[in-house]
Amino acid sequence: MLKKYRDMSGYLTRQELDTAMQFVRSKIDFPVQAGLVLGSGLGNFAESISDPVIIPFEQIPFFPKSTVPGHSGKFYAGFIQNTSVLAMQGRVHYYEGHHISKVGMGIRIMSELGIRQVILTNAAGSVNTEYKPGDYMIIADHLNLLGTHPLIGPNDESFGPRFVDQSHVYSQRLIGYARECAQSVSIQNLREGVYAAMSGPTYETPAEIRMLRTLGADAVGMSTVPEAIVARHCDMQVLGISLITNFGAGISTHDLHHSEVMDTANLKNSEFKQWLTSILSKIDEE
Ligand code: HPA
Repeated sequence: MLKKYRDMSGYLTRQELDTAMQFVRSKIDFPVQAGLVLGSGLGNFAESISDPVIIPFEQIPFFPKSTVPGHSGKFYAGFIQNTSVLAMQGRVHYYEGHHISKVGMGIRIMSELGIRQVILTNAAGSVNTEYKPGDYMIIADHLNLLGTHPLIGPNDESFGPRFVDQSHVYSQRLIGYARECAQSVSIQNLREGVYAAMSGPTYETPAEIRMLRTLGADAVGMSTVPEAIVARHCDMQVLGISLITNFGAGISTHDLHHSEVMDTANLKNSEFKQWLTSILSKIDEE
């Protein structure tokens, strides 16, 4: 039993990352312009990638093992129109029990491949009472309420500096592209706000949603923040986009089920994909 979970303890080391990279580089031998993490309900965007190189997470040495049988994630490397991308279909969550420093391993792999910008997407619940399911929120800033931090532990300077500025986690340049492209694909109800990361795996209580509102959050989820922090540690530019899939607990009267999250995500799937495609072409035009 203990053996099965042995990868769940311990910090990600340079040696582990180098071993993983040897494998990844043997599969991906072209320069990649942008990283992409596909949140709940958006995973099929990876299937729009032409001639993809597909690498299941479980084949990568030291990559955190999925705790959900049959649901291991995959990297897809290839092209969306003219932009080369490396997309993660599925991501690693802290609530699965992985060491927090391993939650950002996918981002470190992107950085080691020379990727300098990453788009992080997620499904989120509303905290701001003006938000409703189906709205999109460009992440302007975040609250790390995971109760831990992905950079805790010994700092390897080859990963990044010990102390990392967090004044501008989300890139104004990429936010500008996201705004422009939202107009060109006629996105309605575009918001910009603060994303709060809770560890999960439960959804919040109504009291927690009220607390988050008091703290200045507009939306809540269980991902993205560790990846954004690790990306800044690697000096990558970050764009974060939440799809509001449900009212936060207590805002609506009904109980929250994962199926509601997936239903909203599915409804918005094709629009979200158009928007992302448009942002990626903008990145290619630079
Ligand atoms: N809370 C936390 N995470 C979520 C939610 C939520 O309401 N919806 C989608 N992911």
